[in-house]
Amino acid sequence: MSDHKTHFGFSTVDENEKAGKVAEVFHSVAKNYDIMNDVMSGGLHRVWKHFTINTARLKKGDKVLDIAGGTGDLSRGWAKRVGKEGEVWLTDINSSMLTVGRDRLLNEGLILPVSLADAEKLPFPDNYFNLVSVAFGLRNMTHKEAALKEMYRVLKPGGTLLVLEFSKVYKPLEGAYDLYSFKLLPVMGKLIAKDADSYQYLAESIRMHPDQETLKLMMLDAGFDSVDYHNMSAGIVALHKGVKF
Ligand SMILES: C[S@@+](CC[C@H](N)C(=O)[O-])C[C@H]1O[C@@H](n2cnc3c(N)ncnc32)[C@H](O)[C@@H]1O
Repeated sequence: MSDHKTHFGFSTVDENEKAGKVAEVFHSVAKNYDIMNDVMSGGLHRVWKHFTINTARLKKGDKVLDIAGGTGDLSRGWAKRVGKEGEVWLTDINSSMLTVGRDRLLNEGLILPVSLADAEKLPFPDNYFNLVSVAFGLRNMTHKEAALKEMYRVLKPGGTLLVLEFSKVYKPLEGAYDLYSFKLLPVMGKLIAKDADSYQYLAESIRMHPDQETLKLMMLDAGFDSVDYHNMSAGIVALHKGVKF
């Protein structure tokens, strides 16, 4: 037991227990992750990711790190953007998610370097990548500040971090969004993935995640020299962009 507590959804847990609990969630959902994403978001996650991939200023030959890359949606997009002369790493802390991602990209004819990596201790050198991305991953990390600092460290000067994450929805939609998240989501999770608990965690973890302005401040604190964000779908998600000068 440590004295440090953190959130796991709405529960308060010992800091050193959180990663294990998050790991259970993603080992459990890995097989059904892609289908559940489509069902839960009505396909919208594809639009959010498409926007993210098109927002990045990349050129052929650039180096990209996809953190918490899971089943590889962003990595696939990055690989197309940087071409064969570029380098795209698909990384995640969870072997089940990474295996699904690696196999899926292989089936599509894409062979990318894949690495089991904790965002809080990245196994990459300083000043290496032109772009680092993390989609729907930061929320699950125990020490978000440490992870953001690592993302800053591995970026080249002039490089960009893109954080795509659930955020704070516009006030008038809060009631409907709560109803959807806490009543419908766990039922869908139970029916389709036979796993209501993981989808209850999803809804709770979204509510506990820092809002748009707080995350912007956290990125500035981690060292980023310029940070701004773009809301999508009425703030259900936000894309934060941080630049290292
Ligand atoms: C909701 S999935 C997102 C997957 C993918 N990026 C996407 O957008 O579809 C969240 C991912 O974060 C990963 N994750 C959680 N904590 C992590 C950490 N400390 N370091 C790296 N990945 C982590 C999980 O294993 C999981 O695959």
